[in-house]
Amino acid sequence: MDRPNIQKINMLSSDFKKQYLRTLANCDNSLFRHPQRTMTERLQSLLPLAAQYSEADCYGQGELVNEFEQQVAAMLGHEAALFLPSGTMAQTMALRIWAEKKHCNQVAFHPTSHLQLHEQNAYQVLHGLDSCLVGKLNEVINRADLDTIHIPLAALLLELPMREIGGQLPTWKELEAQQKWAKSQGIALHLDGARLWSCSEYYQKTLAEIGSLFDSVYVSFYKDLDGIAGAMLTGSAEFIDEARIWTRRLGGNLITLFPDILAAKQGLTDNIPLMPDFVAKAATIAKLFNQHFPTHTIPLCPPCNLFHLVIEQSAKELMPKVMKWSEQYNMALLPLPRTQTDTSCRFEISIGQNALKVSNHDWQKAIASFAHDIILD
Ligand SMILES: Cc1ncc(COP(=O)(O)O)c(C=O)c1O
Repeated sequence: MDRPNIQKINMLSSDFKKQYLRTLANCDNSLFRHPQRTMTERLQSLLPLAAQYSEADCYGQGELVNEFEQQVAAMLGHEAALFLPSGTMAQTMALRIWAEKKHCNQVAFHPTSHLQLHEQNAYQVLHGLDSCLVGKLNEVINRADLDTIHIPLAALLLELPMREIGGQLPTWKELEAQQKWAKSQGIALHLDGARLWSCSEYYQKTLAEIGSLFDSVYVSFYKDLDGIAGAMLTGSAEFIDEARIWTRRLGGNLITLFPDILAAKQGLTDNIPLMPDFVAKAATIAKLFNQHFPTHTIPLCPPCNLFHLVIEQSAKELMPKVMKWSEQYNMALLPLPRTQTDTSCRFEISIGQNALKVSNHDWQKAIASFAHDIILD
Protein backbone atom coordinates (compact mmCIF):
# COMPACT_ATOMS: atom_id res chain seq x y z
CA MET A 1 0.00 0.00 0.00
CA ASP A 2 1.05 3.65 -0.43
CA ARG A 3 3.08 5.26 2.31
CA PRO A 4 1.07 8.01 4.03
CA ASN A 5 2.10 11.57 3.38
CA ILE A 6 0.94 13.28 6.55
CA GLN A 7 2.15 16.78 5.81
CA LYS A 8 2.25 19.10 8.79
CA ILE A 9 1.04 22.47 7.59
CA ASN A 10 1.95 25.06 10.17
CA MET A 11 0.43 28.50 9.94
CA LEU A 12 1.29 29.71 13.43
CA SER A 13 4.49 31.60 14.22
CA SER A 14 6.70 30.28 17.01
CA ASP A 15 6.14 33.55 18.91
CA PHE A 16 2.38 33.07 18.78
CA LYS A 17 2.73 29.46 19.94
CA LYS A 18 4.87 30.49 22.92
CA GLN A 19 2.37 33.20 23.88
CA TYR A 20 -0.54 30.76 23.46
CA LEU A 21 1.11 28.14 25.69
CA ARG A 22 1.90 30.79 28.32
CA THR A 23 -1.76 31.89 28.30
CA LEU A 24 -2.94 28.30 28.78
CA ALA A 25 -0.46 27.69 31.59
CA ASN A 26 -1.90 30.68 33.47
CA CYS A 27 -5.50 29.43 33.35
CA ASP A 28 -7.00 28.01 36.56
CA ASN A 29 -9.27 25.54 34.73
CA SER A 30 -8.23 23.19 31.99
CA LEU A 31 -9.55 20.46 29.74
CA PHE A 32 -6.16 18.82 29.27
CA ARG A 33 -5.14 15.73 31.15
CA HIS A 34 -3.42 16.44 34.46
CA PRO A 35 -2.61 19.51 36.57
CA GLN A 36 0.70 21.12 35.68
CA ARG A 37 3.30 20.78 38.40
CA THR A 38 6.74 22.28 38.84
CA MET A 39 9.75 19.98 39.06
CA THR A 40 9.91 20.64 42.78
CA GLU A 41 6.24 19.74 43.28
CA ARG A 42 6.68 16.57 41.27
CA LEU A 43 9.72 15.40 43.16
CA GLN A 44 8.14 16.27 46.49
CA SER A 45 5.06 14.21 45.64
CA LEU A 46 7.30 11.15 45.21
CA LEU A 47 9.01 11.35 48.60
CA PRO A 48 6.58 9.12 50.57
CA LEU A 49 6.91 6.35 47.97
CA ALA A 50 10.70 6.71 47.77
CA ALA A 51 10.92 6.39 51.56
CA GLN A 52 9.43 2.88 51.32
CA TYR A 53 12.52 1.55 49.52
CA SER A 54 15.99 1.32 51.00
CA GLU A 55 17.80 1.43 47.64
CA ALA A 56 17.36 2.76 44.13
CA ASP A 57 17.38 0.38 41.15
CA CYS A 58 20.84 -0.37 39.78
CA TYR A 59 21.20 -1.44 36.11
CA GLY A 60 17.63 -2.78 36.08
CA GLN A 61 17.87 -4.69 39.38
CA GLY A 62 16.50 -3.98 42.85
CA GLU A 63 13.26 -4.28 44.80
CA LEU A 64 11.72 -1.04 43.49
CA VAL A 65 12.02 -1.84 39.78
CA ASN A 66 11.59 -5.62 39.91
CA GLU A 67 8.49 -5.45 42.13
CA PHE A 68 6.99 -2.83 39.79
CA GLU A 69 7.77 -5.00 36.74
CA GLN A 70 5.98 -7.95 38.37
CA GLN A 71 3.00 -5.72 39.22
CA VAL A 72 2.59 -4.49 35.64
CA ALA A 73 3.22 -7.94 34.11
CA ALA A 74 0.37 -9.33 36.23
CA MET A 75 -1.90 -6.38 35.36
CA LEU A 76 -1.39 -7.11 31.67
CA GLY A 77 -1.78 -10.90 31.95
CA HIS A 78 1.89 -11.67 31.24
CA GLU A 79 4.65 -13.62 32.94
CA ALA A 80 7.37 -10.96 32.97
CA ALA A 81 8.07 -7.28 32.29
CA LEU A 82 10.91 -4.87 31.75
CA PHE A 83 10.97 -1.14 32.58
CA LEU A 84 12.54 0.90 29.77
CA PRO A 85 13.40 4.57 29.17
CA SER A 86 11.12 4.89 26.13
CA GLY A 87 8.41 3.27 24.06
CA THR A 88 10.46 3.86 20.94
CA MET A 89 13.16 1.59 22.34
CA ALA A 90 10.64 -0.93 23.69
CA GLN A 91 8.72 -1.51 20.48
CA THR A 92 11.54 -1.64 17.95
CA MET A 93 13.32 -4.06 20.27
CA ALA A 94 10.20 -6.22 20.61
CA LEU A 95 9.80 -6.45 16.83
CA ARG A 96 13.52 -7.27 16.43
CA ILE A 97 13.18 -10.14 18.91
CA TRP A 98 10.16 -11.53 17.07
CA ALA A 99 11.95 -11.16 13.73
CA GLU A 100 14.94 -13.18 14.96
CA LYS A 101 12.74 -15.83 16.51
CA LYS A 102 10.66 -16.25 13.34
CA HIS A 103 13.66 -15.95 10.96
CA CYS A 104 11.85 -13.23 9.02
CA ASN A 105 12.50 -9.47 8.94
CA GLN A 106 9.06 -8.27 7.88
CA VAL A 107 6.63 -6.74 10.33
CA ALA A 108 3.19 -5.23 9.76
CA PHE A 109 1.58 -2.15 11.26
CA HIS A 110 -0.92 0.59 10.43
CA PRO A 111 0.23 3.53 8.27
CA THR A 112 -0.29 5.90 11.23
CA SER A 113 1.76 3.80 13.65
CA HIS A 114 4.28 5.71 15.82
CA LEU A 115 6.98 3.52 14.22
CA GLN A 116 6.03 4.74 10.78
CA LEU A 117 5.49 8.43 11.55
CA HIS A 118 7.62 9.49 14.48
CA GLU A 119 10.73 7.33 14.93
CA GLN A 120 12.96 8.22 11.95
CA ASN A 121 12.59 4.63 10.67
CA ALA A 122 14.45 3.16 13.64
CA TYR A 123 12.92 -0.27 12.97
CA GLN A 124 14.65 -0.24 9.59
CA VAL A 125 17.89 1.61 10.27
CA LEU A 126 18.74 0.06 13.64
CA HIS A 127 17.13 -3.35 13.33
CA GLY A 128 17.07 -4.14 9.60
CA LEU A 129 13.31 -4.70 9.58
CA ASP A 130 10.98 -4.09 6.65
CA SER A 131 7.47 -2.79 7.14
CA CYS A 132 4.24 -3.93 5.58
CA LEU A 133 1.61 -1.21 6.06
CA VAL A 134 -1.82 -2.65 6.69
CA GLY A 135 -5.26 -1.06 6.97
CA LYS A 136 -6.91 2.11 5.67
CA LEU A 137 -5.45 5.48 6.70
CA ASN A 138 -8.44 6.72 8.76
CA GLU A 139 -9.76 3.41 10.06
CA VAL A 140 -8.79 0.73 12.55
CA ILE A 141 -7.26 -2.43 11.10
CA ASN A 142 -9.87 -5.12 10.57
CA ARG A 143 -9.67 -8.85 9.94
CA ALA A 144 -10.37 -8.44 6.20
CA ASP A 145 -7.34 -6.11 5.87
CA LEU A 146 -5.11 -8.97 6.99
CA ASP A 147 -6.12 -10.99 3.91
CA THR A 148 -4.35 -8.36 1.76
CA ILE A 149 -0.98 -9.38 3.27
CA HIS A 150 0.78 -11.70 0.87
CA ILE A 151 4.29 -11.77 2.33
CA PRO A 152 5.65 -13.78 5.27
CA LEU A 153 5.57 -11.81 8.53
CA ALA A 154 7.35 -12.13 11.86
CA ALA A 155 4.91 -9.89 13.75
CA LEU A 156 1.77 -7.80 13.49
CA LEU A 157 1.60 -4.67 15.64
CA LEU A 158 -1.82 -3.34 16.69
CA GLU A 159 -2.32 -0.07 18.55
CA LEU A 160 -5.07 0.32 21.18
CA PRO A 161 -6.41 2.99 21.12
CA MET A 162 -5.21 4.39 17.78
CA ARG A 163 -3.90 7.84 18.63
CA GLU A 164 -3.60 9.40 15.16
CA ILE A 165 -7.20 8.56 14.27
CA GLY A 166 -8.73 9.96 17.45
CA GLY A 167 -8.45 6.97 19.78
CA GLN A 168 -10.66 4.60 17.78
CA LEU A 169 -10.83 0.97 18.88
CA PRO A 170 -11.72 -2.22 16.99
CA THR A 171 -14.46 -4.35 18.55
CA TRP A 172 -13.53 -7.25 20.82
CA LYS A 173 -14.79 -9.69 18.17
CA GLU A 174 -12.44 -8.09 15.63
CA LEU A 175 -9.52 -8.32 18.04
CA GLU A 176 -10.19 -11.97 18.70
CA ALA A 177 -10.42 -12.67 14.97
CA GLN A 178 -7.11 -10.91 14.34
CA GLN A 179 -5.43 -12.81 17.15
CA LYS A 180 -6.74 -16.08 15.73
CA TRP A 181 -5.35 -15.13 12.31
CA ALA A 182 -1.91 -14.28 13.74
CA LYS A 183 -1.83 -17.56 15.64
CA SER A 184 -2.84 -19.59 12.59
CA GLN A 185 -0.03 -17.95 10.60
CA GLY A 186 2.58 -18.39 13.35
CA ILE A 187 2.95 -14.58 13.56
CA ALA A 188 3.64 -12.80 16.87
CA LEU A 189 1.02 -10.26 17.90
CA HIS A 190 2.43 -7.13 19.55
CA LEU A 191 0.41 -4.36 21.19
CA ASP A 192 1.30 -0.68 21.15
CA GLY A 193 -0.64 0.10 24.31
CA ALA A 194 0.79 3.57 24.94
CA ARG A 195 -2.73 4.64 26.01
CA LEU A 196 -4.17 1.19 26.76
CA TRP A 197 -5.10 2.13 30.33
CA SER A 198 -8.54 3.55 29.44
CA CYS A 199 -9.64 0.71 27.11
CA SER A 200 -11.11 -1.65 29.70
CA GLU A 201 -14.38 0.29 29.80
CA TYR A 202 -15.21 -0.13 26.12
CA TYR A 203 -14.34 -3.83 26.05
CA GLN A 204 -15.72 -4.55 29.52
CA LYS A 205 -12.58 -6.63 29.97
CA THR A 206 -9.71 -6.33 32.42
CA LEU A 207 -6.34 -5.10 31.21
CA ALA A 208 -5.11 -8.67 31.76
CA GLU A 209 -7.81 -10.05 29.45
CA ILE A 210 -6.83 -7.55 26.75
CA GLY A 211 -3.08 -8.09 27.27
CA SER A 212 -3.48 -11.88 27.10
CA LEU A 213 -4.54 -11.64 23.45
CA PHE A 214 -1.01 -10.45 22.63
CA ASP A 215 2.44 -12.08 22.72
CA SER A 216 4.05 -8.82 23.81
CA VAL A 217 2.69 -5.50 25.08
CA TYR A 218 4.18 -2.02 25.48
CA VAL A 219 2.57 0.54 27.79
CA SER A 220 3.56 4.12 28.58
CA PHE A 221 3.63 5.88 31.95
CA TYR A 222 4.02 9.55 31.05
CA LYS A 223 0.83 10.07 29.05
CA ASP A 224 -2.48 9.19 30.72
CA LEU A 225 -0.72 8.12 33.94
CA ASP A 226 1.10 11.44 34.45
CA GLY A 227 4.55 9.89 35.01
CA ILE A 228 7.83 11.60 34.13
CA ALA A 229 9.04 9.26 31.33
CA GLY A 230 9.31 5.54 30.76
CA ALA A 231 7.67 2.46 29.33
CA MET A 232 7.13 -1.20 30.17
CA LEU A 233 7.47 -4.16 27.82
CA THR A 234 5.69 -7.35 28.91
CA GLY A 235 5.63 -10.92 27.62
CA SER A 236 6.88 -14.41 28.46
CA ALA A 237 9.92 -14.80 30.74
CA GLU A 238 11.94 -15.97 27.73
CA PHE A 239 10.93 -12.92 25.68
CA ILE A 240 11.81 -10.53 28.52
CA ASP A 241 15.21 -12.23 29.04
CA GLU A 242 15.94 -11.47 25.37
CA ALA A 243 14.70 -7.90 25.82
CA ARG A 244 17.11 -7.39 28.75
CA ILE A 245 20.01 -8.30 26.47
CA TRP A 246 18.79 -5.89 23.78
CA THR A 247 18.34 -3.13 26.35
CA ARG A 248 22.02 -3.43 27.24
CA ARG A 249 23.05 -3.44 23.59
CA LEU A 250 20.98 -0.35 22.87
CA GLY A 251 22.22 1.62 25.89
CA GLY A 252 18.84 1.52 27.64
CA ASN A 253 20.09 -0.29 30.75
CA LEU A 254 20.88 2.81 32.82
CA ILE A 255 22.62 2.82 36.17
CA THR A 256 19.36 4.07 37.66
CA LEU A 257 15.93 5.25 36.53
CA PHE A 258 14.41 5.74 39.97
CA PRO A 259 12.65 9.10 39.44
CA ASP A 260 10.88 7.67 36.37
CA ILE A 261 10.01 4.41 38.14
CA LEU A 262 8.65 6.14 41.24
CA ALA A 263 6.57 8.56 39.16
CA ALA A 264 5.28 5.69 37.01
CA LYS A 265 4.28 3.63 40.03
CA GLN A 266 2.62 6.62 41.71
CA GLY A 267 0.85 7.57 38.46
CA LEU A 268 -0.53 4.04 38.14
CA THR A 269 -1.85 4.06 41.71
CA ASP A 270 -3.42 7.52 41.35
CA ASN A 271 -4.93 7.29 37.87
CA ILE A 272 -6.01 3.70 37.17
CA PRO A 273 -9.02 3.94 39.54
CA LEU A 274 -10.11 7.13 37.73
CA MET A 275 -10.08 5.67 34.20
CA PRO A 276 -13.87 4.96 34.11
CA ASP A 277 -14.46 8.61 35.09
CA PHE A 278 -12.05 9.86 32.39
CA VAL A 279 -13.84 7.77 29.76
CA ALA A 280 -17.32 8.93 30.85
CA LYS A 281 -16.17 12.57 30.88
CA ALA A 282 -14.65 12.22 27.40
CA ALA A 283 -17.99 10.94 26.09
CA THR A 284 -19.88 13.84 27.74
CA ILE A 285 -17.49 16.52 26.49
CA ALA A 286 -17.38 15.11 22.95
CA LYS A 287 -21.20 15.14 22.92
CA LEU A 288 -21.22 18.79 24.02
CA PHE A 289 -18.79 19.79 21.28
CA ASN A 290 -20.87 17.90 18.72
CA GLN A 291 -24.08 19.61 19.87
CA HIS A 292 -22.76 23.12 19.85
CA PHE A 293 -20.40 23.37 16.96
CA PRO A 294 -20.49 23.36 13.21
CA THR A 295 -17.62 20.98 13.90
CA HIS A 296 -17.21 17.37 14.86
CA THR A 297 -15.24 15.00 17.01
CA ILE A 298 -13.46 11.92 15.70
CA PRO A 299 -14.86 9.50 16.63
CA LEU A 300 -18.33 10.92 17.33
CA CYS A 301 -18.66 8.81 20.50
CA PRO A 302 -15.17 8.24 21.94
CA PRO A 303 -14.71 4.72 23.36
CA CYS A 304 -11.80 5.79 25.61
CA ASN A 305 -10.45 9.00 27.18
CA LEU A 306 -9.09 10.38 23.89
CA PHE A 307 -10.76 12.05 20.90
CA HIS A 308 -9.96 14.52 18.15
CA LEU A 309 -11.88 17.74 17.62
CA VAL A 310 -12.08 19.22 14.12
CA ILE A 311 -12.92 22.91 13.66
CA GLU A 312 -13.43 24.19 10.14
CA GLN A 313 -11.35 27.35 10.38
CA SER A 314 -7.74 28.02 9.54
CA ALA A 315 -5.33 28.14 12.48
CA LYS A 316 -4.49 31.77 11.66
CA GLU A 317 -8.15 32.77 11.94
CA LEU A 318 -9.10 30.52 14.83
CA MET A 319 -6.22 30.43 17.29
CA PRO A 320 -6.01 34.16 18.22
CA LYS A 321 -9.74 33.98 19.09
CA VAL A 322 -9.18 30.85 21.18
CA MET A 323 -6.38 32.61 23.06
CA LYS A 324 -8.58 35.62 23.77
CA TRP A 325 -11.42 33.39 24.98
CA SER A 326 -9.06 31.45 27.29
CA GLU A 327 -7.77 34.69 28.82
CA GLN A 328 -11.29 36.01 29.34
CA TYR A 329 -12.73 32.82 30.89
CA ASN A 330 -9.55 31.65 32.64
CA MET A 331 -9.89 28.27 30.97
CA ALA A 332 -7.52 26.23 28.77
CA LEU A 333 -9.84 24.49 26.34
CA LEU A 334 -7.80 23.61 23.26
CA PRO A 335 -4.14 22.66 22.86
CA LEU A 336 -2.24 23.83 19.78
CA PRO A 337 -3.64 22.04 16.69
CA ARG A 338 -2.13 18.61 16.14
CA THR A 339 -2.66 18.88 12.39
CA GLN A 340 -3.92 21.65 10.10
CA THR A 341 -5.12 22.20 6.57
CA ASP A 342 -5.71 25.60 4.90
CA THR A 343 -9.29 25.56 6.18
CA SER A 344 -9.37 23.43 9.32
CA CYS A 345 -7.62 22.51 12.55
CA ARG A 346 -7.57 19.16 14.33
CA PHE A 347 -6.99 19.01 18.08
CA GLU A 348 -6.11 16.04 20.25
CA ILE A 349 -8.07 16.00 23.51
CA SER A 350 -7.02 13.57 26.27
CA ILE A 351 -9.17 13.56 29.37
CA GLY A 352 -7.61 13.24 32.82
CA GLN A 353 -7.89 14.71 36.28
CA ASN A 354 -8.27 18.33 35.11
CA ALA A 355 -11.54 17.73 33.27
CA LEU A 356 -13.04 15.98 36.31
CA LYS A 357 -12.65 19.14 38.40
CA VAL A 358 -15.31 20.92 36.32
CA SER A 359 -18.93 19.72 36.56
CA ASN A 360 -20.81 18.62 33.43
CA HIS A 361 -23.09 21.62 33.87
CA ASP A 362 -20.11 23.99 33.84
CA TRP A 363 -18.59 22.23 30.83
CA GLN A 364 -21.86 22.71 29.03
CA LYS A 365 -21.81 26.45 29.77
CA ALA A 366 -18.14 26.79 28.84
CA ILE A 367 -18.48 24.95 25.54
CA ALA A 368 -21.64 26.86 24.60
CA SER A 369 -19.89 30.17 25.29
CA PHE A 370 -16.84 29.01 23.37
CA ALA A 371 -18.97 27.99 20.40
CA HIS A 372 -20.73 31.32 20.42
CA ASP A 373 -17.58 33.44 20.69
CA ILE A 374 -15.25 31.44 18.47
CA ILE A 375 -17.24 29.71 15.83
CA LEU A 376 -20.29 31.84 15.28
CA ASP A 377 -18.29 35.05 15.59
C1 LIG B 1 1.13 5.40 20.19
C2 LIG B 1 2.53 5.64 20.65
N1 LIG B 1 3.43 4.64 20.59
C3 LIG B 1 4.70 4.81 20.99
C4 LIG B 1 5.15 6.02 21.49
C5 LIG B 1 6.59 6.17 21.91
O1 LIG B 1 6.78 6.46 23.24
P1 LIG B 1 8.10 7.19 23.78
O2 LIG B 1 7.87 8.66 23.65
O3 LIG B 1 8.20 6.74 25.20
O4 LIG B 1 9.25 6.73 22.94
C6 LIG B 1 4.25 7.09 21.57
C7 LIG B 1 4.67 8.40 22.08
O5 LIG B 1 4.02 9.41 21.95
C8 LIG B 1 2.92 6.90 21.13
O6 LIG B 1 2.01 7.91 21.14
